[in-house]
Amino acid sequence: MTKHKQISATASWESPSNLAIVKYWGKHGLQEPLNPSISFSLAAAVTRTRVSTRPSDQPGFSFRLNGAEKAGFNEKIATFLERIHSHLPFLQHHFLQIDSCNTFPHSSGIASSASSMSALALCLTQLHLLHSDKEETAMDSVLASTLARMGSGSAARSVYGGWTLWGRYPGKKESSDMYALPLEEAEIDPDFRSLHNSILLIDPGQKAVSSTAGHALMNHHPYREARIEQAQKNTERLLAILKAGEWDDFFELAENEALSLHGLMMSSTPSYTLLHPNSLEAIHRIRRARREHGLTIGFSMDAGPNIHLLYPARENEKIKTWMQEELQPLCADKAILHDQVGTGPRALTSNQALDE
Ligand code: PMV
Repeated sequence: MTKHKQISATASWESPSNLAIVKYWGKHGLQEPLNPSISFSLAAAVTRTRVSTRPSDQPGFSFRLNGAEKAGFNEKIATFLERIHSHLPFLQHHFLQIDSCNTFPHSSGIASSASSMSALALCLTQLHLLHSDKEETAMDSVLASTLARMGSGSAARSVYGGWTLWGRYPGKKESSDMYALPLEEAEIDPDFRSLHNSILLIDPGQKAVSSTAGHALMNHHPYREARIEQAQKNTERLLAILKAGEWDDFFELAENEALSLHGLMMSSTPSYTLLHPNSLEAIHRIRRARREHGLTIGFSMDAGPNIHLLYPARENEKIKTWMQEELQPLCADKAILHDQVGTGPRALTSNQALDE
């Protein structure tokens, strides 16, 4: 086992949420995916986390969200720390103070697990390097992504900016179920490097069925094998579409993946749906605007009722005007969050306020 120093140290990182276009749905072992997935990191929806260590015979942690103790998250963090224990020997002899802050509104229906688990994994990776005897202190993204995966599968993809692939895919030898890889700039048309994503907050309430429960229902799902094959084919297709900059094919694939995800939920046993009537109305209006008015717009969805609009940066003005008229009335409190592809995590200085 690597030697480690018993010292007090601090690491602070900002890390983004991400939106998968090819969806990860179903897992085995320690959060290994049933299929490869591809996502892009967001620019505005981020979590900022600071972790401070102090030597202690009683290892453990204390967690604050936006400055207040939040016992509701303790179980999730404790499970995560237990899972990554063998990778980070310093955890055995240190107490952790964890402070976190999200830039996106709490209870907005935007999943924060990808950004929060990746921010925490980046802090712990840096602390691991600071506590080890090695000279090397540059960020180890493979380790950070591996750790993030064990907190929340989709978090594995958030340790990079731009577009990311997670899961073994035969077309890329370096790909792995254990960690994500960034796609290179040359693999993505400039249009998709600056893709805009506006999130329609259709229903900000708590999800009736968690992603964890949804993943588990894939184990005995009648369409399990077909879904794995579909995701593999869509991974190959999406890589070609991103390179060619093909919008029509991109929308067809993104919408097929989003609706397949919700179809898998509806055809699970027990069956459930997270769609809201306004989610369907928004889909209808988006497709009509594309068909009848030639707007370059499509959508994706997460495991929830919100709709993620996808469109090129160059059509921002025109699409925002249309969105306000046609889609804003369908949103709870008329709320839409505007975001776009981001550059990925960044280290913060240790005295920087997290809510700046
Ligand atoms: O990371 P989890 O366990 O919350 O799963 C996320 C699953 C989806 O968001 C629906 C798809 C994805 O690939 O992010």
